Amino acid sequence: MSGNDTTSRSRRAFLKTSGALAVGAAVAPWASRMHVGGSGEIKVGLIGCGGRGTGAARNCVASSEGVRIVAMGDLFADRLASSKRNLSSLGEAFDVTPDREFVGFDAYEKVMATDVDVVILATPPGFRPLMVEAAVAHGKNVFMEKPVAVDPVGIRRVLAASEVAAKKGLAIVAGTQRRHELNYLEVMRRIHDGAIGEVVAGQCYWNQGFLWVHSRKPEYSDMEWQIRNWLYFTWASGDHICEQHIHNIDVMNWALGGPPVRAMGMGGRQVRTAPVCGHIFDHFAVEFEYPNGAIVQSMCRQIDGTKGRVGEHLVGTKGQANPGRWIKGAKDFRFRGKRRDPYVQEHADLIASIRSGNPLNEGRRVAESTLTAIMGRMSAYTGKEITWDFALNESKLDLSPSRHEFGPLPTPKVAMPGKTPLV
Ligand SMILES: NC(=O)c1ccc[n+]([C@@H]2O[C@H](COP(=O)([O-])OP(=O)(O)OC[C@H]3O[C@@H](n4cnc5c(N)ncnc54)[C@H](O)[C@@H]3O)[C@@H](O)[C@H]2O)c1
Repeated sequence: MSGNDTTSRSRRAFLKTSGALAVGAAVAPWASRMHVGGSGEIKVGLIGCGGRGTGAARNCVASSEGVRIVAMGDLFADRLASSKRNLSSLGEAFDVTPDREFVGFDAYEKVMATDVDVVILATPPGFRPLMVEAAVAHGKNVFMEKPVAVDPVGIRRVLAASEVAAKKGLAIVAGTQRRHELNYLEVMRRIHDGAIGEVVAGQCYWNQGFLWVHSRKPEYSDMEWQIRNWLYFTWASGDHICEQHIHNIDVMNWALGGPPVRAMGMGGRQVRTAPVCGHIFDHFAVEFEYPNGAIVQSMCRQIDGTKGRVGEHLVGTKGQANPGRWIKGAKDFRFRGKRRDPYVQEHADLIASIRSGNPLNEGRRVAESTLTAIMGRMSAYTGKEITWDFALNESKLDLSPSRHEFGPLPTPKVAMPGKTPLV
């Protein structure tokens, strides 16, 4: 169902659906936990009302019957207002009254203090560990955008919160949408069934041009500017290897059954050097070694005028595969099935899992893929080899600002391999 289909849904149809779900709610043991007043509808709170958050709210409504957006929170009033204007076209499925709109650094907690069943976490990733911890503490099911942290300390917080969510029977679904794409699911199933033998090598890419920048206005403090222009500050985005290339790195971990044992990478800031681009790199190349000895080459670049390539490739002992499309092995295969919008499907899977009483929990695997990308960045920034064990268990790297408040926050120095210390 598209967002437009949802828009046209009449109030009567919406209530009829919610009523039908209420019958199920009356018999299902999870219902008392999930549905306040047994209405059967799933109430969603959006936290981080930017481009993806607004899109995710639409996708969530489009994914399943009886879903309503009822609360919103953002750091900035202007971002919340523009998201609200956009989402108003959802009609009955969008019902955010002014007393359920929250602005500021504590907006997330205020959304979580309402009776929402699910929160969508779509702020810059530097805030994700704090917010997923809080969501789970408040007993909320979570849809969280990738990446889910920017440093090893944040990863440990997400891993711990995911364990608590599992104990509490809460769902966590992540915005690594390839895991919900029928073509990837089908090809990957065949790879895991041995269609290309043992996977011994892989390549993955996210090479493209520049993304957006948010120029500084005179009234902005350092903190406000860095958050509005968050892509370019490692504490907020994790750098583009983490923010964007995680999608392809996640596919490699999926194919190989888990994260790598070590990473050796390099990169730099060669072209995108203007101060408006903060301090992040504009290219990375990393070699990841997996427990079975498989070597994966990863490459990402955000430089205009260069060759673009986004995707993944796998080499096995008996063939090769493009994990989103085809297999060349003992038996060739090309996915020709119907595709569904993965941005909608991930929400359909989340909501169905909540309603079935078998909540999905993707917290660990998305935290592992995020940490894999972070390892690549740590290696490129420092010039050192990074082991999984070090990154997961020993590294004390914590990039969060000491306080979440508007005020001074100097731009960090550009990392320099051989000089930037490994923490
Ligand atoms: N899965 C995908 O394909 C995909 C695509 C795009 C973005 N994303 C991810 O979605 C997330 C958001 O990206 P975006 O493109 O929507 O960015 P954006 O800048 O458009 O939106 C971020 C929003 O979060 C708000 N915000 C910032 N700090 C906040 C805080 N402390 N509390 C509350 N709100 C806060 C901002 O004001 C803004 O409205 C990122 O993690 C990004 O990597 C995923």
